[in-house]
Amino acid sequence: MKIAVLPGDGIGPEIVTQACRVLDVLKTDGLPVETEMGVLGGAAYDRHGDPYPEATRQLVHAADAVLLGAVGGPQYDKLERPLRPERGLLAIRKDLGLFANLRPALLYPELASASTLKPEVVAGLDIMIVRELTGDIYFGQPRGISINELGEREAYNTMRYSESEVRRIAHVAFDIAMKRSRRLCSVDKANVLETTEFWKEIMIDVGREYPEVELSHMYVDNAAMQLVRNPKQFDVMVTGNIFGDILSDEASMLTGSIGMLPSASLDENNKGLYEPSHGSAPDIAGRDLANPLATILSLAMMLRYTFNRDDAALRVEGAVKKVLAAGLRTADIYQPGCEKVGCAAMGDAVVAAL
Ligand code: NAI
Ligand code: MG
Repeated sequence: MKIAVLPGDGIGPEIVTQACRVLDVLKTDGLPVETEMGVLGGAAYDRHGDPYPEATRQLVHAADAVLLGAVGGPQYDKLERPLRPERGLLAIRKDLGLFANLRPALLYPELASASTLKPEVVAGLDIMIVRELTGDIYFGQPRGISINELGEREAYNTMRYSESEVRRIAHVAFDIAMKRSRRLCSVDKANVLETTEFWKEIMIDVGREYPEVELSHMYVDNAAMQLVRNPKQFDVMVTGNIFGDILSDEASMLTGSIGMLPSASLDENNKGLYEPSHGSAPDIAGRDLANPLATILSLAMMLRYTFNRDDAALRVEGAVKKVLAAGLRTADIYQPGCEKVGCAAMGDAVVAAL
C-alpha cells in the first residue's frame, strides 16, 4: 500500500500529522503501508516555484493513493493564477484522471445538535453523493465571451457529457449502492436540458447490469428541496459536475460540522486522492485548534475504496465514534458539557481508541 502524503498549507500539516499517526498504528498491527511525503500547493510553490512540481507528479504516479491536507492561504493571493495553490489541486486531479468524487454526509449521533435542522430530520443521516468531476459545463467547449449579432457582449459555457463519461460514473455509483442499501437516486434536469436527459437514459441502461439496485430519478431543483425537507430518504445520489458541486456542499452542511467531513476522488482503477472537504483554514493554522477527524476519516475512505480493506476502515471509523462518545471535542464541534481538546490531543485520543 504505497501512499503519497501531501500535507499542503495552513492547517494541512497539523491534521495530516494526526492521520499519519493513525496510519502508524495500523502499520504496527500489520497493514503493509509505505508512506512518502511530498509537497503541493503553496508549500510546493515556496520550495519549487510551482504548485504541482515534477517531483510531486512522479511521487503521486508511483503511489496507489494520495492523502492530502488542504491547500491555499492569503499569502498566495497576489500570485498569478497559474502559480496559485488551488492550481496545484486542479492539476493533480486532472493529471491522475480523478473523475469520481465521493462526498459522504454522515451525522454522528453525538453531534446531532450541531445541525441547523431539527434533530428528528437529521438523526441517523448517512448519504453518499457521487459527483462526476471531469466533465459537464465546467469543461465543455465552446466557452467564453464574444460579441453577438446585435453588437452586444455575450457569455457562454457548454454543458457536455460523452457516453463513456456517464457510463463510468454510473458504474462507480451502482457499485457503491451495491455495498450500501442498494438504493441509488440519479439527479438530473431532464425536463429542460438534453445533456441530462442523455445522462438519465444512460443511467437506466447501466442499471440493467445491477438488477438488485433500485434506481430512482429526481430533478435537481426538487433534490435541493428534498435534501433539507427529508434528507433521510436518500442513500446514494449520483449527479454531474455542477449539480454535484452544489448538492454536495448543501448535503455536507446538513451535519453542521465541516471539520468532520472526508472526501475521495477516484480514477478508473480505484486509485484515489483523499482529503477533508474543508480548506486550509488559515484563520486557525498553527494554533493546534483544527479538527483532524475529517482527515482521519478520509484515511478510512482510502482503506475502503482504494485498498478494499473495509475491516481497517471500520476500525478507524469506530475509533472516531469512540472519542466522540467519550465527549472529546475540538473547538469547531464543541458543545457545553464536553471536553474541549486541541488537534494533537484529538489525535492522541483516536490513537488510544484504536
Ligand atoms: P476553509 O474550509 O478553510 O475554512 C472555513 C471555516 O471553517 C474557517 O472558519 C475555518 O477555521 C473553519 N475550518 C475549516 N476546517 C476546519 C477544521 N478542520 N477544524 C476546525 N475548523 C475548520 O474555507 P475558506 O476559509 O473559504 O478557505 C481558506 C483557504 O483554503 C483558501 O485559500 C481556499 O482557497 C482554500 N481551500 C482549499 C480547499 C482544498 O484544499 N481542497 C478547499 C476549500 C478552500
Ligand atoms: Mg464546492
